[in-house]
Amino acid sequence: MLKIFIKLAAVALVASFGTIVSADTWTLDSENSKLAFGSIKKDKIGEVHSFERISGTVSDTGAVAINIDLTSVQTNIEIRDTRMVEHVFKGMADASLAAQIDMAAVSALGLGETTVIDVAGTLSLVGTNVDIETEMFVARLSESTVVVTTNDMIFLNLESAGIDASVTKLMEIAKLPSITRTSPVTLRLVFNSEMTKAEVAPAAPAAQTVFAGDVKKGKKIFKKCKACHSMKPGKNGVGPSLHSIIGKQSGAADGYKYSKAMKGANITWDAANLNTYLTKPKTLVPGTKMSFGGLKKAKDIENLLSYIQAESK
Ligand code: HEC
Repeated sequence: MLKIFIKLAAVALVASFGTIVSADTWTLDSENSKLAFGSIKKDKIGEVHSFERISGTVSDTGAVAINIDLTSVQTNIEIRDTRMVEHVFKGMADASLAAQIDMAAVSALGLGETTVIDVAGTLSLVGTNVDIETEMFVARLSESTVVVTTNDMIFLNLESAGIDASVTKLMEIAKLPSITRTSPVTLRLVFNSEMTKAEVAPAAPAAQTVFAGDVKKGKKIFKKCKACHSMKPGKNGVGPSLHSIIGKQSGAADGYKYSKAMKGANITWDAANLNTYLTKPKTLVPGTKMSFGGLKKAKDIENLLSYIQAESK
């Protein structure tokens, strides 16, 4: 039964990974995942068991590797847990599942969308390899979280899982007239992608500095920029439009051909960077094609930025 369970689990895991797609590596959230299996003894007493510890990953190419800690079996009866580990799992520490899933099929899943995928994998349990094929229900909760559950119930045949004789032994030890030889298995797998989380996290908003300088004085200083820059959105000249430049990424004006240096600078035009650039352009961005000597007075820069801020509204 346990073996059967494991096989089923493996299948479920495979399905889960498929859903996750697009990220680099997905990791099973063990806390929020559950692998349960059922048994029926004496023809009528149904019981649910589970494995406390399952772990796993899915690679960016869809290779699934899942580990089930066999010693973490929970049947709610301690002596039964011990007997299963000893007689059914033969003292082996874990079972593993290997599968390959079509990541592309799952990457198409939008946030809040669900789908059903076919999953096929091989479960290695106590020296026996079992092929598992099933359907898994996949729901994308967020860019970095996918939940995969069994779509139907998975039935694990104890004989093909190589644990039929072991279960007979358990039956004898427990003095039971019968234990069914097919075990239903259900899975709830939650996968997280750290990578995706990082990519998806909104960029920290640039520190919203409010410049409280003299806008009129700033307008006068802007005359030094005017030969090359316009404050009109989208209007590029020798230099790019400076509309909304405060807080913006460097080298991002539409339709403007930046120098290689500015293109590769990757800086945010916050107060500190603008101060440095306007004081000595080539210090902050060596190789910039902005031929401007620089403003000397901090007060002038503050007034200028107050003007640019006002003109960007
Ligand atoms: C002689 C022309 C010229 C003058 C004068 C000039 N700039 Fe520039 N500026 C440029 C050019 C050209 C670039 C593009 C730099 C690159 O691609 O390396 C640029 C880029 C910039 C950028 C970066 C824009 C972006 O999209 O990343 C800022 C900010 C900027 N200038 C501000 C100013 C300010 C403020 C003044 C006036 C105090 C000024 N510039 C004066 C030519 C000029």
